[in-house]
Amino acid sequence: MSGHGPSAEDVAEEQAHFRQVVTTFRQYRQYSLSANTRRRKDFYSLPIPHQKLLKEIGWYQKLGDVDDAILSNADFLEEIVDNTEIFSGSVDEPVGGDADMAGEHGDEHAGPADAHFHDAHTHEHGSHAHSHGPHSHGHPHAHERVVGSSSVPAHEHRQKVSEPDMDKLRSTLKQFVRDWSAEGQKERDETYGPILDALEEQFKDLPEERRADVQVLVPGAGLGRLTWEVINRGFSCQGNEFSYFMLLSSFFILNRTTATNQWSIYPHIHSFSNLQNSASLLQPVMIPDVIPGNRKPGPDFSQVAGDFEEVYGLRQEDQAQAWDAVLTCFFIDTAKNIVSYLEILHHLLAPGGVWINFGPLLWHFENNHTKDISIELNLDEIKVLAEKIGFKIEKEKLVRTTYVGHPDSMLHHVYDCAFWTATKI
Ligand SMILES: C[S@@+](CC[C@H](N)C(=O)[O-])C[C@H]1O[C@@H](n2cnc3c(N)ncnc32)[C@H](O)[C@@H]1O
Repeated sequence: MSGHGPSAEDVAEEQAHFRQVVTTFRQYRQYSLSANTRRRKDFYSLPIPHQKLLKEIGWYQKLGDVDDAILSNADFLEEIVDNTEIFSGSVDEPVGGDADMAGEHGDEHAGPADAHFHDAHTHEHGSHAHSHGPHSHGHPHAHERVVGSSSVPAHEHRQKVSEPDMDKLRSTLKQFVRDWSAEGQKERDETYGPILDALEEQFKDLPEERRADVQVLVPGAGLGRLTWEVINRGFSCQGNEFSYFMLLSSFFILNRTTATNQWSIYPHIHSFSNLQNSASLLQPVMIPDVIPGNRKPGPDFSQVAGDFEEVYGLRQEDQAQAWDAVLTCFFIDTAKNIVSYLEILHHLLAPGGVWINFGPLLWHFENNHTKDISIELNLDEIKVLAEKIGFKIEKEKLVRTTYVGHPDSMLHHVYDCAFWTATKI
C-alpha cells in the first residue's frame, strides 16, 4: 500500500479509541444493570397500591428477568473483547492467538472461517450523525471510525463510557441478529439476496472453478455476513470496515465459532417502548445460524480495517482496477463527499467491472455536530453523477426492507432501498 504511515499522535489516538471501545464492551454489564435499577427506583417511589398492582401484572418481576438477560449479554460481549489479539501491534503488552490483524504485508493466520484481518493503518474519522437502524431513545448514531492497534490496559474498568458508545454496542447486538441469526434471514434475503443474485448473474459464464479468481470488495462490511456469502459462492472477497465495534465482533463470529447457535443474546431488552408483550422484550436470539468455518474452500477471504477513502483512495495506485466487483450495501450514504466515493469506486474497478449497490440515502453526516462537510444528493442526482463519472446503470429497482428491525415491535422503520448494478465503461 502506498502513502505515508500514521504519525505517532495518530497512533496514540487510535490506541486510545480502541481502549475506549474495549472498555465499552466491558462496562456493558454495570451500565445496563444501572439502567434497569432506575426502573426499580421509580417503582419504589410509587404509592404502595400502585406497586402492588404492578407486581400483580408481573411488571416488577420482569425487571429480574431483564437483569438475567443483561448478564448473559455481558458474558458474550466480554468473550468478544477477550479476543482482541487481531490487534497485534499492541503497545501495552504482547498478545498471541491464532489470528492476527496484520499490517498490509504482515503475516496472518485465521481461525475457522480463515478470514484474514489486516490493519491498513489509517486514522481518525469524524463521528456520524445518522444510522440506519432504530434506536431505543431516538438518538441517531452510527458506527464510526476505527483502526490501529492496542491491547486492553489493566485500569480499563475505571474508564468512563459514553452513552453514544454504549448505544453503538447495543446496536452491535442487533446487527448480530441481522447478519448471523435465523431471525435475520428475511432481512438478509431482501437485502443481500438481490446483490448476490446480481453478482452470480454477472459471472454466470465463468466456470465454477475459476470463480476464486474474481476479486470482490465489500466496503462497510459490518459484521461480515455479506462478505461470507460471497466467499461461500466461490468468489474471493475482501471486507473493509472502520468501526472497532464491528471489527472486534466480526472477527469473533468468523474465527471463534465452532457450532451453530453457540451463543444466545438478548438484543431487545434495552428499551421497554413499543412492545406488545414481555416475550418480545425477553426473546433470546441464537447465533450463529451457520458455522462460518464451513464455507467453500479456495477463495481468498480478508478483512481490512480502515477508512474506505484512505485505504482505497485515488492515491492508492495498487488499488486501481484491482477489483472485478464492488458491493455497497447500506454504505454510500456514509459519504461526506459522495463525488469522492463514486470516483473511488470507479478507480477500483477493472474495465467492465461491476458496482452493485443496495441501500437508502440516509446521509450520515447531514447536520453533523463535528463540522464535517456533507453533500447530500437525491437518487436522481446520484444516478446522473454516476453516469458522468463513467458508469452505466442497469437493473435499477426500489426494494422495500428494514434494517436491524425487531419484527414484534409496534414501530417499524421501512426503507425503499435503491438497488442497481453499474458497469464501469
Ligand atoms: C449502515 S452499516 C451497513 C453494514 C453492512 N453493510 C450491512 O448492510 O449490514 C455501514 C457500515 O459502514 C461502516 N463505515 C462507514 N463509513 C465507513 C468508511 N468511511 N470506511 C469504512 N467503513 C465505513 C460503518 O462502520 C458500518 O459498519
